[in-house]
Parts: sequence; C-alpha cells; structure tokens
Amino acid sequence: MDGSGVGTGQRVMVFDTTLRDGEQSPGAALNVNEKVEIAHALEEMGVDILEAGFPISSPGDFRAVERISEEMRNCVVCGLTRAHRKDIEVAAEALRAAVHPRIHTGLGVSDVHVQYKLRTTREDALAMGVDAVRHAKRFVEDVQYYAEDAGRAEPAYLYRVLEAVIAAGATVVNIPDTTGYSTPEEFGALIAGIVDHVPNIDKAVISVHCHNDLGMATANTLAALVNGARQIEVTMNGIGERAGNCSLEEVVMALRTRRDHYRLETGVDARRIYPISRLVSQLTGIPVQPNKAVVGTNAFAHSSGIHQDGVLKERTTYEIMNPRDVGVPDSEIVLSARSGRAGLRHRLAELGYTFQEDQFEKLYERFLRVADKKKTVDTRDLEAIIADEVQVFFEETYHLEQVQVACGDRAIPTATVSIRGPDGQVTCDADHGAGPVDAVYRAINRVIGEPNELIEFSIQAVTEGIDAVGRVTIRIQAEDPVKENGFERRVFSGRGSDTDIVVASAKAYMFALNRLIAARREADQQASAGGAT
Ligand code: KIV
Ligand code: ZN
Repeated sequence: MDGSGVGTGQRVMVFDTTLRDGEQSPGAALNVNEKVEIAHALEEMGVDILEAGFPISSPGDFRAVERISEEMRNCVVCGLTRAHRKDIEVAAEALRAAVHPRIHTGLGVSDVHVQYKLRTTREDALAMGVDAVRHAKRFVEDVQYYAEDAGRAEPAYLYRVLEAVIAAGATVVNIPDTTGYSTPEEFGALIAGIVDHVPNIDKAVISVHCHNDLGMATANTLAALVNGARQIEVTMNGIGERAGNCSLEEVVMALRTRRDHYRLETGVDARRIYPISRLVSQLTGIPVQPNKAVVGTNAFAHSSGIHQDGVLKERTTYEIMNPRDVGVPDSEIVLSARSGRAGLRHRLAELGYTFQEDQFEKLYERFLRVADKKKTVDTRDLEAIIADEVQVFFEETYHLEQVQVACGDRAIPTATVSIRGPDGQVTCDADHGAGPVDAVYRAINRVIGEPNELIEFSIQAVTEGIDAVGRVTIRIQAEDPVKENGFERRVFSGRGSDTDIVVASAKAYMFALNRLIAARREADQQASAGGAT
C-alpha cells in the first residue's frame, strides 16, 4: 500500500512518440541536438520506450535515431519503418548502438487504406506485414507491429493480421486509431475483441496509439487500458499529426489520480512532467494552450472568489491533483536583484537545473537585467531566461547587440539595429515598417540578408502584471529551402523573451534566422562530406 489505500496496480508501459509523431506537427521540426536533449529528459522522467524517429525519412531523422541509440542507457529506443525491407534495414543501422533496440513496422488494415493508399488486396497486405516482421527479426529481437487505421478496420481481418504477425515474431502489436474516429466505447470493445479472438495474443503486448481529431484520444486510451492494453503511445503536450496524439501527462495523471478506479501504474516520475512540457514547447515553438489539462498555465489557477476562498481553506476543495506533484513550480518563491548569485543558484538547484559556470554567469547577468526592470523574478521568468540563454542547440552566427525603435500614432515606425556577424564585425542599419516589429525585422534583414517570410507570430505574457516578461514565438519560411540529401526544409521557429516585447520579437527573429543559417551550414557540410546515410 502507498498511503492512498489502494494497492500497487499492474504496470503500463509508456511509449513516447514526441520525437516521431509529435515532430510531425506542422512546423515542429527539431534539430538533432534538440531531439537528443528531449530524449534525455524523457528517459530521466521514466518513459519505457522512446520512438526516436523514422530513420529512412530524412538524414536528420537517421542521425537523431543513431545519436539517441548511442546515448540512452535504460529505455528501449525505437525506429519507425514502413513494411519495406529497405526501411527496416536503414532503421536497424540507425539503432545499431542501442542497448535495447526496437523496430516498429507495419501497414494499413482498414479497407480504405488497403484499397486506396496501398492499392492492394487484404491478403497481399497481410503477407507484406508478415514479411516485414520476419525481416525485422533478422536484426532485432523486439519488433512492434502497427496495424494502421485499426480503428476503422473490419475486426475479423484485424484479428487475422494480428495472429499472423505475432506468429511471425512481433513482440508488441500496436492498435492505432490513426484518424481519431473511434469513440471510447468502440475502442474499448475493439481491444476486448482482440483479447478474445486472437488466439496467440498472450505472446504479445497490446499497445494503443490514439489521435485526437475528436478530442477523445485520452478517453480512448484509458478505455483500451481497461480492456487489456498494456502499452500507451503518447506525446508531451499531445503534439502530433493534425489535432495531435494522446497526451502523456493526461493519461499518466489520470492513472495516478484515479488509481482507485484503474488500478494501473506507470514508471513516470510525474514531478518531471511540467519542466519537460515547457522544454518541448520551447524547442518545438508550439505553445501550450492555457487551459490544457495538467500542464496549461491555468490548470491550477483559481480565479473566481468562491474557488479562491475554498482553495485557501482546503486545497482539495477545487484541486484533484497537487500542482507540485506534476512539477509546477511554486510561484510564491521570488527572487530580486538583491538575491545575488547564491540565491539564484539555490533556486535553480531547487528547480532541478544545474549549469556550468559560464552558463550560470550568462544567466546571472540576464537575471539582473530582468530583476532591475521587474523588481521580483519568479520561476516562470527564470524559465523564460533559461530558454533564451541556455537551451539553444545550434551555433549562433549573428548576435543582436542592440535594437532601438521609434514609433507612435504620429511617427513612422523606425528601427535601428546593430548586429555582430561571424567575423566579429558589428554592422548597424535602420529601416521603417508598418509597425515597430515590422521595422525591426526589415532592419535585421538589411544586415543578414536571408530572404524569408514570417508565417506565424505569437506573443504571451510569461507572468501577470504590467511589467511582465513577454515571450514571442515565431515561425519563418525560408525562400531557399535547406536541402539535405534530396529532402527540403523551409520552416524554422524562433523564440525570445524580454520585458520589452519589441526586443523579445527581435530576439525571436534572430533565433529563427540563426537556426536556419546553422541548418544550411550543416547541410552544406554534409553534402561536401558525401551525405550521412
Ligand atoms: O497514427 C498512426 O497510425 C501512426 C502509425 C505509424 C503508428 O502514427
Ligand atoms: Zn500516429
């Protein structure tokens, strides 16, 4: 017993696909170093299986799977493939250094996929699936099979496919609701049907992979667990194709908070959920909606007087989870310019961050500048500073030294910037625009000259109040795509924070441009070295 009055439940394996399906979110492209950083954070949090990418899809994905395989020690590292021999061979190569490698192969099982996507017959599709499993077994023991679009497949055919791929050696069978079409009742019944009708199902783990097109991914995943699934495929913040995947934090916290009901548990250390949610949001450039369950900024905020009164008297009147249990920082702890290095160091350590001395000095300088303007600096301000100063996984080519803007209802918005280039020389230029941000971006363009279009711009206040730190997230589309061995990448995200939102906008733009330039440089280096794979 753990004090909750509920005994230990059966273990559910957590298969995280933030770096594969999550990264398929439009514009979420992460570079290899960013993926490796997220992979370490997920492993430390206790996920059991990390889907690190789709190795044949691009050289970047191949390298990410390769590096993650080299660096993970505890969790299973998985690479996705189609049911093609070449895909499987490339995935096996990328996974070579993994302590626990897994190949995830498969193909469609619904008639719409078999007929229109695969343009074949059910029997041929089944034979292709069996061949893929047998081929993958030549390289790794652990082979997971996905029956794509299982949510819309005819159950009798699905049972036959599962029986055949398990007989061929699949250790895990993944039942995806690829289009997010199923209801919880239907999806639960589908899993129960598999348990009852697939004679060799005891030889494989049932995994579920639910998409959120109708907002039912979490409910469907939980219904599947109730009916016998023992592996869940999830992403941080629920990012993923279209409306996204089932979110890790929702299922993990549902199982934990309602252990009395589900009697199941995961190996996830829930206190790491919030910091990883922020890391994923910062690196992908995909903001977390404020009312997002578990990790949204409002998830533990109480605004009505009646609720505030209740929570002050007894937290559990309106809180079913303790924010600390999911790692939400205690916003009452504030620092000021008087806190000094020791105070800052202490608070960072409490939040689980450790930095090298040079990184700490950079943070401290930036902290002082914010503290000067804001008087008090809370945890959310600190997180924004860390994201700006430390969590940068590419080389900065251009550095913004200064930005100055004149604007107003009677003035032509005009900006002057000075930028230090790769040769160390500082260039100063100015331009005007439709507004102050437009003017700054035009002035930066005059210095850097990397043609692109701004396709997304969002601004959020990190903390409350008129002196809040503002965080700007943008996406730019490069006019000339970055070409990596025949693959093209155009969209790059950037972020920046400051108490002055025009400065934050300038930082975000510099961030995206530097990221684009670093990717171009890396692609050129690889092209001259003869390619990666
Ligand atoms: O949604 C899906 O069906 C998938 C498979 C490739 C597992 O992502
Ligand atoms: Zn998917």
